[in-house]
Amino acid sequence: MTNDRASFGSRLGVILAAAGSAVGLGNIWRFPYMTGENGGAAFILVYIGCVLLFGAPIMMAEFAIGRRARSNTARAFRTLAPDTKWNWVGRMEVLAGFLILSYYAVVAGWTLQYIVEAAAGNFSASAPGNYVESYNAFISNPWVPVLWTVLFLLGTHLIVVKGVEKGIERSSKVMMPMLFILLVVLAVCSLSLPGAGRGVEFLLKPDFSKVDGDVLLAAMGQAFFSLSLGMGCMCTYASYFKPDTDLPKTAFSVSVVDTLVAILSGLVIFPAAFSVDIRPDSGPGLLFVTLPNVFHQAFGGVPLVAGVLGVMFYILLALAALTSTISLHEVVTAYLHEEFSLSRRKAAGLVTAGCVVLGTFCSLSLGVGKDYTLFGMTLFDLFDYVTAKLMLPVSAFFVSVFMGWYLDRRIVCDELTNSGTIRLRVCRLVVFLLKFVAPIGIAFVFANELELI
Ligand code: PFF
Repeated sequence: MTNDRASFGSRLGVILAAAGSAVGLGNIWRFPYMTGENGGAAFILVYIGCVLLFGAPIMMAEFAIGRRARSNTARAFRTLAPDTKWNWVGRMEVLAGFLILSYYAVVAGWTLQYIVEAAAGNFSASAPGNYVESYNAFISNPWVPVLWTVLFLLGTHLIVVKGVEKGIERSSKVMMPMLFILLVVLAVCSLSLPGAGRGVEFLLKPDFSKVDGDVLLAAMGQAFFSLSLGMGCMCTYASYFKPDTDLPKTAFSVSVVDTLVAILSGLVIFPAAFSVDIRPDSGPGLLFVTLPNVFHQAFGGVPLVAGVLGVMFYILLALAALTSTISLHEVVTAYLHEEFSLSRRKAAGLVTAGCVVLGTFCSLSLGVGKDYTLFGMTLFDLFDYVTAKLMLPVSAFFVSVFMGWYLDRRIVCDELTNSGTIRLRVCRLVVFLLKFVAPIGIAFVFANELELI
């Protein structure tokens, strides 16, 4: 173990970097839509419950594992559970991080193209029906999306290579406040449109009749993905925390910021969409088809305004995606750097090169390669399914079992209470949640996603 290990410089830096990982495309395209479809404010309450009962405790567990071992995720499990099979949980998290980065960077790259499109005024020049066509033509183009993916990965690479404090922390301190300001400005513009009230109602009016078992499971799955759990991100970042970082408080703050950004995104998307009578769709279609149309119709009378707001929105998406890709890249870079004694630069270079190759295939699988499927899915969909639906819940399950059942209670409490300086009640509660509540909850989500229940 190295004692001269890099570390985050400040408490704020820690929270912004971890929140940067958590706040991503998932907050902006998935959460608002799920809220609107699943009972509005009732869903938000269920979601907050899931974050508090499952999300935040597992984040604390990942934090505790990372900081205790002060090493990359794979080695962390080996250090805390030598000569056991727990090793494989850490390795699986690193692999998941690598696979997610490969396809996440493809969608992240699209945001760059749309910044350019919005700046060129294409949203106000196009007829509403053209958005689907131009989106499909763009993602199936063999060159352009690949180039943007590579560019996005290079941007991520340049920040990661600079190191933890100068690269990750400094960039998060600039990008996260920018993201927040953009979000608030866009929400104000959206809320000021005529008829915006219907969108707010759709998002926030509680309808408890819609909340059933499926909604609960959907909220739980969304909480894991949104908080970046089960992919080694929080574990790796925590390995750079200082001994006096308050883990429960940090996990709580990150969860609050992540949830707030998700709700604010809803207040950008729904009021604008309802004001022009467009029913929002989910998935990438929402970001790249529905919203250009919304910008066009809501603000198209003044092309400059439509252009400026469009550019702001896609910059917001790019920033949100970038802080997430940085955390994924760091998981794998730290692993290669420490396990194979490579320099950080070389390790990061290998990760970027690997992701460029896989990302290129993922991107092509939406166009020229769409006839090549595996288990009936394109490579892009396969990566998404295998990571988000399979690897993520499996590793989150093992993380909670590891902390709740395997690791010595004294070690767990020592980390969570900073050697007794934070009240012990917190530790007892978290251990209880990790021991019983989280594993049972995740097992249900997993079974539901595999359509076993
Ligand atoms: N939390 C990110 C989002 O909500 O978009 C996505 C993500 C990043 C998932 C990093 C998993 C991860 F390890």
